[in-house]
Amino acid sequence: MQTTIYYFSATGNSLAMAKKIATHLGNTKLISIPKLINQNEITVMTSKVGFIFPVYAWGMPRIVADFVEKLKFKNTEYAFAIATNAGTIAGTLLQLQKALKKSNIHLNAGFSVTAPNHTPLSEDGLAIIKFMHSISGKQVYASYEERLSEIVSIVKNNQPHKIETTSWLSNKVGSFLYKGAMKTFQVADQNFSVNENCTHCNKCVTVCPRNNIKMKENKPVWLNNCELCFACFEWCPMEAIQYKGTPKDLKRSHNDEVTYEEIIAKGSET
Ligand SMILES: Cc1cc2nc3c(=O)[nH]c(=O)nc-3n(C[C@H](O)[C@H](O)[C@H](O)COP(=O)(O)O)c2cc1C
Repeated sequence: MQTTIYYFSATGNSLAMAKKIATHLGNTKLISIPKLINQNEITVMTSKVGFIFPVYAWGMPRIVADFVEKLKFKNTEYAFAIATNAGTIAGTLLQLQKALKKSNIHLNAGFSVTAPNHTPLSEDGLAIIKFMHSISGKQVYASYEERLSEIVSIVKNNQPHKIETTSWLSNKVGSFLYKGAMKTFQVADQNFSVNENCTHCNKCVTVCPRNNIKMKENKPVWLNNCELCFACFEWCPMEAIQYKGTPKDLKRSHNDEVTYEEIIAKGSET
């Protein structure tokens, strides 16, 4: 059975997972969501479809939510999703399930995969995450690798699996916080700046999933359509991009199994 996996990944966790799943499933097209986001309509032709993306503010990144709305399905019989996260998925996969339902697609399986966090979290962000952890209920999953074999065996055999989520309370609080967060994220790019180490290599422009960065007088400027994904911050080879409130000497990091070239690619095929 042919599979299409649509992915969004800024710091590499979701793409690393997508690559592994594709290799195990075989006959799979990996397609980058940012590369299609400006199309008006996207038709899914394969009988199996997957979505792999990070959790942002207890929900789907804005770019993923916008993307799902553009989808039309031709022959899809089985849909699955994996949301990588730092520990609190809340109702993210339920949000996707609801969005797919509008296109008469049933989300057959939804997995939460907790992965090492590479994004700089502010004190406020950490406090909210700590609070969300405290109300999220028991959510202890096996490690990244152990989860992989479990997920592959379910998806390979088109088996149903519960849509993984946290407690009712956590989901409610999460979806309340999500709505406000999506508005603030869009303009949170006003907190980015660039220092004198910038060599105007253009990598931040190319890596931005929303085309939200332009070079002006050899310096990046942000255009207020931000996902707050931190791809520009993490992948800047000179570590020249700063975010207000984060220590100037913070080590940039990303998933080691993914390269810059892969992050900016359209996708690949197995
Ligand atoms: C703006 C932002 C918001 C995030 N919100 C959450 C969250 O609500 N819950 C959580 O567990 N992780 C959260 N994370 C962590 C990411 O979901 C996690 O690091 C993910 O694996 C990143 O995927 P990627 O490496 O494919 O970009 C957030 C990260 C960012 C950048």
